[in-house]
Amino acid sequence: MKLLYCSLLGLSAVLMGMALKVQILPPLRKTDTEAALIITPGAFIKGDAYEPLGVFVGMYGMSHPTQLKGVLLYASYLTRKHKLHAYPVPVMTLSGDLDGLTRITRIVDTFEELENDVKNNANATFRTPVIVMPGVNHGQFASGTMPPNVAKHDLKPDVTENNAHEQISNHTSDFILANLPDPNPYFKQAMASLSVTYQNTLTIIQPLLDIKRLDDNSNHTSVWTSIAQKIIAGNSLDKYVKAYDTEVSEVYIGEKNPDEYLTEDGVTVLTYSYLRQPMNPEDVSEAPQTPEEIIAKMKSSQAIADLLGNVTASGNLTCKEVNQVAFAYVLANASTAAKIRFEQRGLPITFYPDNPITFEEDWIRSKLKLNYSEVGLYVTSYSHVTNVKNQEDGMSGMHFCKLLSPYRAMEWIYIDSLKTNGTIDTTQA
Ligand SMILES: *[C@@H]1O[C@H](CO)[C@@H](O)[C@H](O)[C@H]1NC(C)=O
Ligand SMILES: *[C@@H]1O[C@H](CO)[C@@H](O)[C@H](O)[C@H]1NC(C)=O
Ligand SMILES: *[C@@H]1O[C@H](CO)[C@@H](O)[C@H](O)[C@H]1NC(C)=O
Ligand SMILES: *[C@@H]1O[C@H](CO)[C@@H](O)[C@H](O)[C@H]1NC(C)=O
Ligand SMILES: *[C@@H]1O[C@H](CO)[C@@H](O)[C@H](O)[C@H]1NC(C)=O
Ligand SMILES: *[C@@H]1O[C@H](CO)[C@@H](O)[C@H](O)[C@H]1NC(C)=O
Ligand SMILES: *[C@@H]1O[C@H](CO)[C@@H](O)[C@H](O)[C@H]1NC(C)=O
Ligand SMILES: *[C@@H]1O[C@H](CO)[C@@H](O)[C@H](O)[C@H]1NC(C)=O
Repeated sequence: MKLLYCSLLGLSAVLMGMALKVQILPPLRKTDTEAALIITPGAFIKGDAYEPLGVFVGMYGMSHPTQLKGVLLYASYLTRKHKLHAYPVPVMTLSGDLDGLTRITRIVDTFEELENDVKNNANATFRTPVIVMPGVNHGQFASGTMPPNVAKHDLKPDVTENNAHEQISNHTSDFILANLPDPNPYFKQAMASLSVTYQNTLTIIQPLLDIKRLDDNSNHTSVWTSIAQKIIAGNSLDKYVKAYDTEVSEVYIGEKNPDEYLTEDGVTVLTYSYLRQPMNPEDVSEAPQTPEEIIAKMKSSQAIADLLGNVTASGNLTCKEVNQVAFAYVLANASTAAKIRFEQRGLPITFYPDNPITFEEDWIRSKLKLNYSEVGLYVTSYSHVTNVKNQEDGMSGMHFCKLLSPYRAMEWIYIDSLKTNGTIDTTQA
């Protein structure tokens, strides 16, 4: 059997004969930029070839399938046009939930892909595993002094460097052993271990996936907008309101307007929304991955009260209040670990009063303001609210909001609120 050699600075796994030995070695290179790893049987990528591959290391595997037995994506991922199930060789996507550069919110998408693949073929769990390790950051995939960009964006890890390296070694070893030709004595054990790891990763990712799917789902409905409509209706009315949302494209959001009608037990409101995803053609994971805003077109509390006729509106709630509820909602739905981290060292989120906009065209153009500052995140919504009467254009009783996407709020809790702007102590034991 050929010698299988993989190395990432401090980490080295050497496979000889049938046994896989994992060793922690001192850094191979002390001065260069530290980046992703590629694994090849009997060969390795070195020096200058290292960095250009970068995040796109997976592409190398695409064009060299016969030279490779598999690819390890350490704190990296296949870019969106390359699908896991179509990848020519086994590929492992391995990252940490405190990676400030390869955000967990980017890995969520790759895991979602795996989850769908597994429905068709359970072997995807072993051939293309997507693993998120608890407490591990980006820099722990290497060792030594981090390049400035890593130091600036990375998060403080919860585990020691040795523990991180051991976790990486264990998963690497399982992946290699599960993809070596059977029989090998460790095959079953490695498969079992990858199955457990799949479940552990699912547990870490599930809260994010749930919140993502509130608004980004195959039903093309913004569940959050229908919740927001009930919030806007207010306390006295919300129990009579049923709201159903339809997501439309950016082109149509200006044209579609919400409607309401009486039913046996109250009022049904049909809302419209547009989920603005960040522009990210290069598929980089350093920037936020979650929607920039939800353009939500709802009916006003007064309009609902007027239609219902027998209950008075209890107050005029604002877009700001909806955004505050969104934040409380996702904090309640975050994992225990994420909640503890946020409570211990997360920067605060502050909601400013709404900016009322007179003309709808101007409102559509005014993007939800998200100011990521060194002392926290400031959120300012733009609203467009019309009177219930005297509107000649059929635009009476509207309450339009630029909403904070719950998934964006969750990304703040999990990642951006924890950024320490380059003060991470990389020398921790
Ligand atoms: C999954 O992998 C096992 C072991 O290599 C193999 O026996 C089985 O046929 C595979 N199943 C599918 C559906 O490919
Ligand atoms: C790595 O695997 C070994 C053997 O299964 C286990 O004893 C150890 O706890 C694992 N290390 C980590 C950090 O998970
Ligand atoms: C789509 O809507 C149906 C019916 O309301 C619901 O059961 C299902 O969970 C929804 N699917 C998604 C992906 O939200
Ligand atoms: C108001 O009207 C709705 C629908 O007609 C009805 O279900 C509800 O019980 C009424 N509420 C009160 C307080 O009368
Ligand atoms: C809500 O605001 C509208 C428009 O400013 C006003 O006409 C209405 O009386 C207010 N409703 C309540 C319950 O304060
Ligand atoms: C989030 O938490 C709320 C309670 O605060 C709960 O009603 C809701 O079902 C949870 N949503 C998800 C997607 O877990
Ligand atoms: C963002 O917030 C910071 C801190 O409060 C403030 O100094 C800065 O002016 C704000 N920037 C914008 C564009 O609002
Ligand atoms: C500090 O971190 C915030 C949030 O990631 C970022 O927007 C800001 O530019 C950083 N400031 C500096 C000085 O790096």
